[in-house]
Amino acid sequence: MTDTITITDNRSGKTVTVPITGGVFSSAALRELDPNLFMYDPAYLSTAACASSITYLDGENGILRYRGIPIEQLAEHSSFLETAYLLLNGDLPTADQLAKWQYDVTHHTMIHENMRKRFVDGFHYDAHPMGMFISATAALGTFYDDAKDIFDKDSLDKQILRLVAKVPTIAAMCYRFSQGLPFVSPDNALSYGENFLNMMFKIGDDYAVHPTLARAMDILFILHADHEQNCGTTAMRVVSSANADPYTATSAAASALYGPLHGGANEAVVRMLSEIGTIDNVPAFIEGVKNGDAKLMGFGHRVYKNFDPRATIIKKTAYEVFEVTGKNPLLDIALKLEETALKDEYFVKRKLYPNVDFYSGLIYQALGFPVDMFTVLFAIPRTVGWLAHMQELLSDKDQKISRPRQWYTGVDTRDYTPIAKR
Ligand code: SDX
Repeated sequence: MTDTITITDNRSGKTVTVPITGGVFSSAALRELDPNLFMYDPAYLSTAACASSITYLDGENGILRYRGIPIEQLAEHSSFLETAYLLLNGDLPTADQLAKWQYDVTHHTMIHENMRKRFVDGFHYDAHPMGMFISATAALGTFYDDAKDIFDKDSLDKQILRLVAKVPTIAAMCYRFSQGLPFVSPDNALSYGENFLNMMFKIGDDYAVHPTLARAMDILFILHADHEQNCGTTAMRVVSSANADPYTATSAAASALYGPLHGGANEAVVRMLSEIGTIDNVPAFIEGVKNGDAKLMGFGHRVYKNFDPRATIIKKTAYEVFEVTGKNPLLDIALKLEETALKDEYFVKRKLYPNVDFYSGLIYQALGFPVDMFTVLFAIPRTVGWLAHMQELLSDKDQKISRPRQWYTGVDTRDYTPIAKR
């Protein structure tokens, strides 16, 4: 037995044998057999679109590692900015590197007054903050004439720094605008998570972020920072492959994340729990899911066929937050849903377990965030993962502009019919 695969095209009798490396084999083998032969793989279920050293997932065993470090250890010992440095640079920073990174991020959190005063005023008062976030990230790039210098490392590093530093400010601006509240400027004395909560919720001079809540925000940011080739990151890579600037690529990735099957699920989970309303309604809701009337939002995953390790950490963090904020009443419904589903053949057979979104919304709600801010809370940390993948793609010699092929199933050639004859 060798680590190879042999493919025979029975139409021509041609055979090709190629090595299997790291669980993949090169599609060049197909081009060798027949350049017009393509693998039909909708939604890329069996396609490795890139080589990456950023994040490793083992879906069967519920393993998630950033640059080789288990997510459990990062959630326990690291900070979001330290984890961001790890994802972007490949290794944990030294004390001096971390201090410089924290200083640089802290001193790039301001956004141009034209965005705060003019751009944001163009939105309707009840605009969804994700629509605003997606627009604002793309607009941010128009303020920097070096935004497109993506092959100048110092310039790309500067754009990445700006985006990492400014997305919390943009997110808080979207929230304050929707509440009709004055914007709160970044406070350089606060940590990344604290500063975000401060910009979000500060009213009056006596507001102070509770350390448990600041830590919970940091842990949630760590857990959401990257997740290999998910839908949003794939969008980031596809747009970056055309050499778009980091701001518009981030906006494209955030657009994919906005989808309810992806990052929009945390918002959908809380709406689902609120609609269920009481524990007594859980059995009927589960029956409805099994009949195809609804999805159990926050359950299931393309890769994890076991517990999503992030869900386990988030569930533990939820209890710590509720110690401070008081228990979210929807928690009991969530626990009952999880208990019921994990014992039900429909979910067991399909290997459907709680994913990252099942409990995160309960914490966000307890922290005071409105439901329509939940996906923005996902986009803030995931901006780091998106940018790490953009960096990796731009320096990958195997990569070029993304342009998949298709299986044409349309009609054969036919002539134009004048309208009088249609
Ligand atoms: C994220 O990719 C990532 O890494 C994403 C993410 C990240 O960090 O970037 O982890 C973040 O997006 C988490 C997922 C959040 N989405 C949800 O919670 C929405 C609910 N989940 C599903 O829509 C679904 O599970 C997906 C989209 C997450 C995964 O879908 P797949 O892999 O395409 O699986 P599928 O839809 O083909 O489902 C397989 C079967 C189907 O039943 P059958 O047709 O075989 O009878 O399982 C069923 C599905 O109907 N199913 C569900 C279900 N999820 C799958 N049935 C009820 N409720 C669900 N949640």
